Amino acid sequence: TIERTLSIVKPDAVARNLVGKIYDRFETNGLRVVAARMKHLSRAEAEGFYAVHRGKPFFDSLVEFMTSGPVMIQVLEGENAILKNRELMGATDPQKAAAGTLRADFASSIEANAVHGSDSPENAAIEIAWFFPQSEVYSR
Ligand code: CMP
Repeated sequence: TIERTLSIVKPDAVARNLVGKIYDRFETNGLRVVAARMKHLSRAEAEGFYAVHRGKPFFDSLVEFMTSGPVMIQVLEGENAILKNRELMGATDPQKAAAGTLRADFASSIEANAVHGSDSPENAAIEIAWFFPQSEVYSR
């Protein structure tokens, strides 16, 4: 099935000038960028985007981190895009991420972990709509 997923290059990876290298992983592995925008998230945007994590011990720190600098936000499209992107990212904790994954190669910590990717079709739809009107998603 052709799917779409929401991907974010987080402030740590943008600051380290890794946007191109990360996009290359997507494109080399069958994912296509069909929407993209750079944005410095406000506190309200970061809190809203991560609403499912509200109340978790890492929530305040996560919002602080995600608003610490600009992020690159993109919609990726391709065969099984949601799972494919999660495989390319590797585990949330870079110490546990498989060799060759984005987080193994580029993440600094479980929080500053370089990339975000939707974890289910339901969340992908919600997350894409959070950042992009339908008219700005250039689906093939
Ligand atoms: P992400 O996949 O974007 O989803 C939630 C984010 O919270 C996660 O990546 C990390 O950046 C951050 N985070 C910080 N600490 C933790 C933790 N202990 N478990 C899960 N996520 C964490």
